[in-house]
Amino acid sequence: MRLAGKVAIITGGANGIGLAACERFAEEGASVIMADFDEQAGKEQEALLKEKGHGVTFAQVNVADRESVASLVEKTLEQYGKIDVLINNAGITKDATLLKMDPADFQRVLDVNLTGVFNCTQAVAPHMIEAGGGKIINTSSVSGVYGNFGQTNYAATKAAVVGMTKTWAKELGRKGINVNAVAPGFTATAMVAKMPENIIKQMASVVSLQRLGKPEDIANAYLFLASSESDYVHGHVLHVDGGIMM
Ligand code: NAI
Repeated sequence: MRLAGKVAIITGGANGIGLAACERFAEEGASVIMADFDEQAGKEQEALLKEKGHGVTFAQVNVADRESVASLVEKTLEQYGKIDVLINNAGITKDATLLKMDPADFQRVLDVNLTGVFNCTQAVAPHMIEAGGGKIINTSSVSGVYGNFGQTNYAATKAAVVGMTKTWAKELGRKGINVNAVAPGFTATAMVAKMPENIIKQMASVVSLQRLGKPEDIANAYLFLASSESDYVHGHVLHVDGGIMM
């Protein structure tokens, strides 16, 4: 039990990578708050995980809305008394090439993927400081590291997440808080399923392991960074991408 007694908030926890992380963290003994905008999936998945005996609670949140995030943190503290781990996993795409990108879609992706990460971390960090420590894990992407066709908005946010991770590592390390990021490669979730099939095949072909990632591949990296095994890993961006570029 690598997370016994720990309380973890996982944003975007109702689907894909976040959902795999909720299950994996609960298997390792954590009390998990599955924080997601998608109420239907959240309630369904919460029930399924509870049937398996896991300590997972769904909480509806819009990470782009500061009041909603404040209420999530308040309720979590009321129920569990502390927050040991924050996984800033919620994210969206609104893809288009630069020349075709609607400015509203540019902004919407910034609101969720960038401001959302800022909102959640700013709300949680004071409580971790008060408790003497914690683990914050942000979700970047191969797109943020290398750029990606049609993803001006998304790549910008995922590069920004790296900058925030390193900044927070410098600011919060002295307070006992580890801050790291995971940069997933192309992973088989609804986010990728939206893309045309030929693009998905092309994406898999550039991966050294010749396959897309599974949500569990990324969840296991979150788990490592949330556990005490990574206590001396700090300000790091862990690439979990099957070897896309080396
Ligand atoms: P997904 O689309 O399967 O799940 C994302 C979850 O975030 C959904 O449950 C959605 O309801 C939730 N969400 C969206 N907006 C929200 C908001 N405003 N407030 C709260 N929750 C919100 O996506 P996936 O693939 O599981 O992605 C998880 C993270 O991994 C994202 O940050 C994504 O950018 C990142 N990532 C994914 C890759 C992939 O190939 N699937 C590659 C690299 C990074």
